[in-house]
Amino acid sequence: MGEVEKKKIIIDTDPGIDDAMAIFVALGSPEVEVIALTTIFGNVYTSLATKNALHLLEVAERTDIPVVEGSHMTIMKATKLRIADFVHGKDGLGNQNFPQPKGKCIEQLAPEFLVEQAKLHPGNITIVALGPLTNIALAIQLDPEFSKNIGQIVLLGGAFSVNGNVNPAAEANIFGDPEAADIVFTSGADILAVGINVTHQVVFTDNDRKKLEESEGKLAKYLCKILGLYFSYHREAYHTKGVYLHDPTALLAAINPSLLTYTEGVVRVQTTGITRGMTLFDNTLKKYGEITEWTDKPKVKVAVTVDSPAIVEIVLDRLINS
Ligand SMILES: *[C@@H]1O[C@H](CO)[C@@H](O)[C@H](O)[C@H]1NC(C)=O
Ligand SMILES: *[C@@H]1O[C@H](CO)[C@@H](O)[C@H](O)[C@H]1NC(C)=O
Repeated sequence: MGEVEKKKIIIDTDPGIDDAMAIFVALGSPEVEVIALTTIFGNVYTSLATKNALHLLEVAERTDIPVVEGSHMTIMKATKLRIADFVHGKDGLGNQNFPQPKGKCIEQLAPEFLVEQAKLHPGNITIVALGPLTNIALAIQLDPEFSKNIGQIVLLGGAFSVNGNVNPAAEANIFGDPEAADIVFTSGADILAVGINVTHQVVFTDNDRKKLEESEGKLAKYLCKILGLYFSYHREAYHTKGVYLHDPTALLAAINPSLLTYTEGVVRVQTTGITRGMTLFDNTLKKYGEITEWTDKPKVKVAVTVDSPAIVEIVLDRLINS
């Protein structure tokens, strides 16, 4: 038997503590080949996201993987961005004063890179989108064939049936660039959206952190250092003793879709008013008499349930054996 072909993934990321975790889990997963990290603002500004992506690959000794810098502004060219450094630290990685990375990002910009890779491997690239969807929306605008060429886009975004984490309406990644998100959701690409209504069920406890600490895993030990801040944020913001594994859950959904169940329908994003950034899923239970903003738009997959114990176990396994 020949070698099973690995799934090619590009991680679009704003590292970010749970991004770091997702990236390390990906690097430890034999099922996938990480072909690049593309960067975006969100947890930090884009230039810091690029620096952190380079740093994380140096920590993992995987500098063979290119880092491709993404957009510094939203698709509407707004430069006043919402940055969640109060969750992840001023440096995005738990305020650890890590040294500057030695490497550099490649010359190309992320949207062009995404278009090129999708063309090169039509139908065979999965983008795991862990931040605002600006780079992907720009790729869709650059190339009308992009949504057909790209294999799948698995994204962490949307609050769906629960309150958001930026405000009661909106989840952070969608709120970061609602116009871009609406372009992506209505693009016709094969999309699986994992919302925080689902990731809030995937809790990594203090006991799990101890397992990382006591292991010999190199990346497990690194993560223990940066996880402290993430734990204290969750204690204050949500009164929980653990942390939500948003990004690792989306990453594992891309690797093994059977860890979740999902439904299909049209998702639109509110772009104005007090509910800016809200995702609205049409469950199609009602037959509307008139044409709506959801009518005839392409359907996407939205996560419904998740096997949380399995996710935590895989995350632990991949990090402990790193
Ligand atoms: C896509 O993947 C399939 C299955 O692994 C493979 O047979 C095919 O050659 C790939 N296509 C491209 C364009 O890489
Ligand atoms: C998450 O939201 C989707 C879309 O509204 C819904 O179908 C699903 O049941 C929700 N899951 C949970 C656990 O709330």
